[in-house]
Amino acid sequence: MSGFSITWLDLREPADLGGRNIELAQKALAALRDEHRALAPRLAVDLGAGTGSTLRALLNLGGDDIIWRLVDLDGALLDEALLRHGQDFVIEDHQADLSVVEELPLSGARLVTASALFDLTSQEFLERLCERLAAQGTGLYAALNYDGTTQWQPPHPLDAQVLDAFNSDQRRDKGFGEALGPDATRALQLALEPRGYSVQIANSPWQLDGADAELVTALINGIADAVQETVDAEPLAQWRQFRLDNAGSGTCIVGHTDLLALPDAPAQS
Ligand SMILES: C[S@@+](CC[C@H](N)C(=O)[O-])C[C@H]1O[C@@H](n2cnc3c(N)ncnc32)[C@H](O)[C@@H]1O
Repeated sequence: MSGFSITWLDLREPADLGGRNIELAQKALAALRDEHRALAPRLAVDLGAGTGSTLRALLNLGGDDIIWRLVDLDGALLDEALLRHGQDFVIEDHQADLSVVEELPLSGARLVTASALFDLTSQEFLERLCERLAAQGTGLYAALNYDGTTQWQPPHPLDAQVLDAFNSDQRRDKGFGEALGPDATRALQLALEPRGYSVQIANSPWQLDGADAELVTALINGIADAVQETVDAEPLAQWRQFRLDNAGSGTCIVGHTDLLALPDAPAQS
């Protein structure tokens, strides 16, 4: 168990799919199919794969010809991914702790992928991972990294304070050391460009309205719970209630960014 339930991942997946930048996803798929980049098969290694959301996102774009190696600490999530896709895809599942970077099964990958992962990780993890990617000339497609922005409509006087407190909480250690939180995409760019990668970044915001009230409700409660030690109880309770009262009629934009980094030198098999 990792703390990420199938229910939560299913709840957020439509918002992730709607936010994910299509152009970068198409380029990621093209990189997987680029015969000049590698002799190996069209192998994608998805880190923190959960139930296979990256697989599904690329499948939506016609990516039914990719071989997947799904890596996650949570065996129940990997089992669910195999249940959903094991009949139609060649899938290798690896239950492993990503923080043990040197043992990650990256060999032969044309592209390493991840979604909603890198904001949980640390600078140290990222440097070690990028070193391995560069050593074997493998690209990285890292989608849906939280960027630290959240815009609510209608506004509430406590929005900015709650957001500051939430962004501080995002830096709590999630098993990799101090988390990168909103800095994840920029940190990836700074780690990959000097190692010979061309990096493209695009916005991939969640754009939520009354139709997403269940997700918005979970988001409000998650934020309020996360900041309860740093924001005064009474105003926070009022903020939570105001937000819940407006979940069915207001809007919420949660900023994310996608990154695609491709090596200037071709991958080796
Ligand atoms: C926010 S979820 C994203 C899951 C999936 N990529 C998606 O977009 O639905 C983060 C994922 O990373 C996995 N994870 C977190 N820490 C991990 C670690 N140290 N080693 C392996 N997987 C980890 C969790 O089990 C979870 O599946």
